[in-house]
Amino acid sequence: MLRKIFPKTLLFRSLLIVIAPIILIQIVVGGVFFDSIWYKTNRGLVRSAANEVNTFLALYPEYKQKNKTNELINIYKDKSGLIISIKKETQQLPSTETVKWYSLYDKIVLEEFTDKIKNPYWHNVRFNSSFVQVLVLLNKNEVIEFLVPKSKIRSTSGRIFALWITVPSLIFLFISIIFLRNQIRPIVHLSQAAERFGKGQFDSDFKVSGALEIRQASYEFERMKRRILKHISQRTAMLSGISHDLKTPLTRLKLQIELLNKNQKLNSLKEEITEMEKMINEYLDFASNQYSQPLEKFDIIELIQNLIGKSFKKNIKIKSPKNLIFSGRKNLIRRCIANIINNSQKYSENILITCKKIKKTIQINIDDDGPGIADEHKEKVFRPFYRVDKSRSLKDNSVGLGLSIVEDIVNSHGGTVKLLNNPKGKGLRVSLSFPN
Ligand SMILES: Nc1ncnc2c1ncn2[C@@H]1O[C@H](COP(=O)(O)OP(=O)(O)OP(=O)(O)O)[C@@H](O)[C@H]1O
Ligand SMILES: [Mg+2]
Repeated sequence: MLRKIFPKTLLFRSLLIVIAPIILIQIVVGGVFFDSIWYKTNRGLVRSAANEVNTFLALYPEYKQKNKTNELINIYKDKSGLIISIKKETQQLPSTETVKWYSLYDKIVLEEFTDKIKNPYWHNVRFNSSFVQVLVLLNKNEVIEFLVPKSKIRSTSGRIFALWITVPSLIFLFISIIFLRNQIRPIVHLSQAAERFGKGQFDSDFKVSGALEIRQASYEFERMKRRILKHISQRTAMLSGISHDLKTPLTRLKLQIELLNKNQKLNSLKEEITEMEKMINEYLDFASNQYSQPLEKFDIIELIQNLIGKSFKKNIKIKSPKNLIFSGRKNLIRRCIANIINNSQKYSENILITCKKIKKTIQINIDDDGPGIADEHKEKVFRPFYRVDKSRSLKDNSVGLGLSIVEDIVNSHGGTVKLLNNPKGKGLRVSLSFPN
């Protein structure tokens, strides 16, 4: 459950690790501040304003008797900033609702005023930008208006505090995103390089950068890559060397047999030698152009159609989209598909080729209705020179390298090859999938 909500990429995970404590601290600090400073301070300020109103109301009858109301009003104006006026013409309080449900400040004002002012009253916090208006009804249908300066009863530190805790953290967050992205980029480059290597792009180099551990991993990857390449090329060179050197004694043997083969008695020996020669030539041909091919982008459907049109005559159907762009070594892919069709053609009547792209994988299935390959041979047929039915293969002029070459080409493109039973019942399905 948690895994589903948790971000997938390293960048967002690291950000979450950085952001979560910041937000928690801000909530705690904000809560403490709000309760201890903003809420209590505002309450105190409003209460003292309500007390001042009360004091005025208590003094007012006496000053009125002495006809000194203006004096009292002036004292209040000078000493506490309250602007007071007696509204003789209005004898009723307005009935409009001024308390907004979402404003905590309105609630504080309402509670404190209701608690302190015993006369009927009405107040409006949004009277104008600088004053809160309070209207109090006296016994004798007299309404007194108090304009209380907002600066006196409202603490402004809340907004400043909120700004101070949010703006700097947003700035720091922005900076940490930039830094984190730079830290994560080398990891992404490393994984891309590994992916390219897996797909057989051996020549691509990448710059080692980033933190020490990532540099070390990149450096080790580069070393591993070089070792693997060296290993591959050494083995290919050795095999090619042996194959090449075998050609000379074989030619000599052939010549000697020609000389001795007067009564055609040594024909089978001659055939064996011819087959050995074919194997060697086949291998040398494969080894010579294996990795020298350039990587390119091409339409694989067009390639298959050309291949079928030129070299095969059997009943072959294709099921595919109009075009499918493939990036790889074109000649090797052509050879790989040709080898598979070649086999199917040897053993069956009808062939169906299906191509499709599923997410980032290109899948090619080659189905035939031949005898298929028994499960116990399915792995072995990929071995070089392995043939299930040797007597038949000899007639067909086959060497037993076809599927080994297919496997090699598919692997060098980072793909996989599987031999399955044809889902239609009879025959073989060769299933290739390439990341693209
Ligand atoms: N479509 C198929 N149906 C039945 N058997 C097959 C099929 N494809 C391959 N095989 C079996 O797998 C063996 C190995 O195939 P592979 O292509 O490697 O060699 P080959 O076809 O005998 O020789 P080459 O391809 O080098 O001329 C074949 O000899 C054959 O017995
Ligand atoms: Mg073959």
